[in-house]
Amino acid sequence: MGEAMIQGLVTKHLIDPTKIIVCEPRGERREQLKQQRKVKVTSSNLDATNSSTIVLSVKPQDLHKALSDLKGLLRPNQLVVSIVAGARIKTISDALTHSAVIRVMPNTPAQIGEGISVWTATPSVNKEQLTQAKTILRALGKEVQVEEEKYLDMATAVSGTGPSYVFLVMEAMIDAAVHLGFARHVAYQLVTETMRGSILYAMHSSKHPAELRNLVTSPGGTSAAALYQLEKGNLRTVISRAIFAAYERSKALGESDPH
Ligand SMILES: NC(=O)c1ccc[n+]([C@@H]2O[C@H](COP(=O)([O-])OP(=O)(O)OC[C@H]3O[C@@H](n4cnc5c(N)ncnc54)[C@H](OP(=O)(O)O)[C@@H]3O)[C@@H](O)[C@H]2O)c1
Repeated sequence: MGEAMIQGLVTKHLIDPTKIIVCEPRGERREQLKQQRKVKVTSSNLDATNSSTIVLSVKPQDLHKALSDLKGLLRPNQLVVSIVAGARIKTISDALTHSAVIRVMPNTPAQIGEGISVWTATPSVNKEQLTQAKTILRALGKEVQVEEEKYLDMATAVSGTGPSYVFLVMEAMIDAAVHLGFARHVAYQLVTETMRGSILYAMHSSKHPAELRNLVTSPGGTSAAALYQLEKGNLRTVISRAIFAAYERSKALGESDPH
């Protein structure tokens, strides 16, 4: 995720790569990032303590170590941006004894600059830092600022975890097309292009998805037959329950945050 951020920032000419310091514990990975991304690299998190913005992009289990390295070393005018799933602002703020914190929930399409990040900031984050945060997040795709941290758990369930729902539907449609008799590569192309085209069409249209669906559902036709089975299989309820389960899980993980 951190690398995707660097790639977006550099490709969009938002920052010179030499102004980015990557703290990476593994020597081989450090060398790779230095060669490929032209960034400065270090093995010590302490080398980041003078940066105007510090991005926390470690796995949740490594967060405690990274926070303890930085504890008490940041000045009030520095900004901390965390993309660590489940880590609450209070956890980060208390561990660092620092109040200017932004918490973000990105998603995997960020790898190609097509992500959507939902984020919130503490009252200590100033206007200039808010602009800076937006710039960083736009390197990953689109961004939506929310007023309260509670929306981060909701975003985790909808957009953060969302790509896995889409991939499962893709997989199911591809397998069904293979079942009908298409070669797998043809099935893949038919499904991915149908999804891509439908999403672009819906986004360009001012119509509600239900209206677009009704437009292609002729009486006694193929869509009606297929939609009948999808409704009979409780598709809407299953999706709603899945998203709610992800939301509950996100809240529980935040509450059990050991830090
Ligand atoms: N991937 C997603 O779709 C997604 C979505 C939303 C949120 N997030 C959040 O984004 C964060 C990063 O995820 P990721 O998939 O990018 O993880 P990742 O590929 O494992 O990247 C984490 C990086 O942190 C380094 N690291 C480990 N311990 C460190 C320490 N103590 N100090 C400094 N750096 C350290 C790791 O080095 P080594 O490789 O040497 O261990 C690795 O380069 C996670 O907290 C995740 O919850 C990810």
